[in-house]
Formats: sequence, C-alpha cells, structure tokens
Amino acid sequence: MKKAAILFCTCAAILLFTNCHKKMHPTAAKNPAEEMDYATNHYTVAQRAEGKVLFEKTCAGCHDLPVPGESTILQWDDILPKMFKKANMGYDDAGLVKAYVIFNSKK
Ligand code: HEC
Repeated sequence: MKKAAILFCTCAAILLFTNCHKKMHPTAAKNPAEEMDYATNHYTVAQRAEGKVLFEKTCAGCHDLPVPGESTILQWDDILPKMFKKANMGYDDAGLVKAYVIFNSKK
C-alpha cells in the first residue's frame, strides 16, 4: 500500500514537472537578447531550417506569408503565440518556427 502511494506520488511529481517545464517555453516571453540567444544556441541551423519550412507551410494559410525581418522580437512575441493558436500548431513545431522567426527578426 505504502509502495503504491510512493509510486503514485513520484509519477504525479514527474508529470507535473514535465508539464510545467513544457509550458514554460518556447512561447514564454523572455527579453529579446535572451530570445535571440535561445534561438541561436538552443536550436541548430538544421532545426531553424525546419522551422522555415513549417513557417512557409503554415503561416500563409490565412494571409500572405509574413516576413520575419519586418518585425522586432518584441513584436513577434506579441503575435506568435496568437498565431500558433490560430494555426493549431503543436508545441515542438511552434518552437522550431519561433526559432526561425526570432533568428531572422528585425534588428
Ligand atoms: C487560421 C488562420 C491563420 C493562420 C494559420 C495564421 N494566421 Fe496570422 N493572422 C490571422 C488573422 C485573422 C490575422 C489578423 C487579425 C489578428 O491579429 O488576429 C492575422 C494576423 C497576422 C499578423 C499581423 C498581426 C498584426 O498585429 O499586425 C502576423 C504577423 C501574422 N498573422 C503572422 C502569422 C504567423 C507567423 C503564422 C504562422 C505561425 C500565422 N500568422 C498563421 C490568421 C491566421
């Protein structure tokens, strides 16, 4: 009985932790320098290229394809979470798209 309770708590704690961890990023707003650092160093060139493909595939469905370099990081922070929702984009894909967009945003 005690063993089962411990097992249950451990599983619950792990679930809670991974969920929170998931919710914290990548769409959570950080400051622009941190975001650029994250997009540059946490994601590889290949992942940002994958983000570009997803961006081109997903973000021209309802309007013209936006240009990453036309908006600043702060502007993208405002827009992207809304658009990820509209596009029904999953967490991992949104991370790749965000890395691509932020990396190429207006300086
Ligand atoms: C389901 C339709 C839909 C999809 C998919 C979509 N958008 Fe949008 N987007 C809209 C609508 C509607 C607006 C205008 C009104 C608004 O801001 O909600 C908009 C506006 C925008 C704007 C202008 C916002 C502003 O305030 O000037 C940008 C930039 C943008 N979208 C980027 C994106 C990106 C990047 C993606 C891909 C992740 C995307 N959109 C996918 C519907 C969509």
